[in-house]
Amino acid sequence: MSIRIVLSVLLVFLVVYPPCSVGQQLAATPPMGWNSWNHFAEKVDDATVRVAADALVSSGMRDAGYIYVNIDDTWEGTRDAAGFIQANPKFPDMKALADYVHSKGLRLGIYSSPGPKTCAGFSGSYGHEEQDAQTYANWGIDYLKYDLCSFGTIMEKAGSKETAHQLMLDAYQKMSNALKKTGRPIVFSLCQYGIDQVWRWGPSVGGNLWRTTGDISDDYGRMTEIGFGQAGLSKYAGPGHWNDPDMLEIGNGKMKPDEYRTHMTLWALLAAPLLAGNDLGSMTPETVSILTNREVIAIDQDVKGVQGDRFWAEGPQEIWVRPLADGSKAIGMFNRADEWSGPAKIQINFRDLGFSSPVSVRDVWAGENLGIMKSYEARVLGHGVVLLRVK
Ligand code: GLA
Repeated sequence: MSIRIVLSVLLVFLVVYPPCSVGQQLAATPPMGWNSWNHFAEKVDDATVRVAADALVSSGMRDAGYIYVNIDDTWEGTRDAAGFIQANPKFPDMKALADYVHSKGLRLGIYSSPGPKTCAGFSGSYGHEEQDAQTYANWGIDYLKYDLCSFGTIMEKAGSKETAHQLMLDAYQKMSNALKKTGRPIVFSLCQYGIDQVWRWGPSVGGNLWRTTGDISDDYGRMTEIGFGQAGLSKYAGPGHWNDPDMLEIGNGKMKPDEYRTHMTLWALLAAPLLAGNDLGSMTPETVSILTNREVIAIDQDVKGVQGDRFWAEGPQEIWVRPLADGSKAIGMFNRADEWSGPAKIQINFRDLGFSSPVSVRDVWAGENLGIMKSYEARVLGHGVVLLRVK
């Protein structure tokens, strides 16, 4: 047997029997992968998911760390006589699909709601939590996004804010317990748009990540409203439990390359999950290069797991800093001004970041070492970013 075959068999084995099943932490770094919603919405089906899985491999994204293939809303069918959920005809055999995804060295994610209906009006898990968790485990599911949706109506009827809050916590805890009971390691992703400061209690109900905001769209204004709106949340993230500012829009076509680089940079500094939300089957080389930049991904996936935060802001210019495990710091210098206003000069004095002697400076997107410096002045285009890594 050639070494390639041995390595492939080992990779598939590790995916089917993830090491976390023997005690390692789930989501030790922010989850990376793909989710169907941003591009395909209700059009997702078995074939779409297989194309995405194939493309994760052929584009090099899997090897860059993108391993979760997550089916979002609209896969759900009806329940059988015993109450077990079935996929609708778009997904004729979920177990076979999971086997296919696993055979590529990838993991499969799925979606449900604690309410009776999902946001798109399909069957939710209300009253069937244990059955659903067991079904997911039987299929070989590795990730669950659990979206509040119609549970909001149950909360509205609760009578008081406190009762509604407790009902929501109980609902998430219930599914977390059900997932644990299956014995299969399944990443638990809370989606309730940041209600009641979820970052304060998300980990206590078993969340590995939690959406901090409403939905993103493929628009610079909305993307930056969410991304820069994460200021102050860094202390709530860490290995196993992450703030989730929503899935990526990179490659969906409505932002410019500089804007997508801003998106990727912000998400990396925020230790955000990197869930590509584009059509992986038809990506431009530029989209692939933004999504797979190893140095940017290394910042996102840094093992220290400390989320970055806003360091300085003046008008439309901002500097965000993230401390990294090797003692270096990632520094994002953003110019939020319109593109037509021309480049802005943004200066950083490394002493202000706690470096007592000059540091070696690398421009990450340019892939260039800039030298040993005490301070640096970047020229940053409107809607653009300069990302440094200094040590
Ligand atoms: C909500 C979520 C989205 C997506 C849709 C699916 O809006 O926030 O991410 O899952 O539901 O219906």
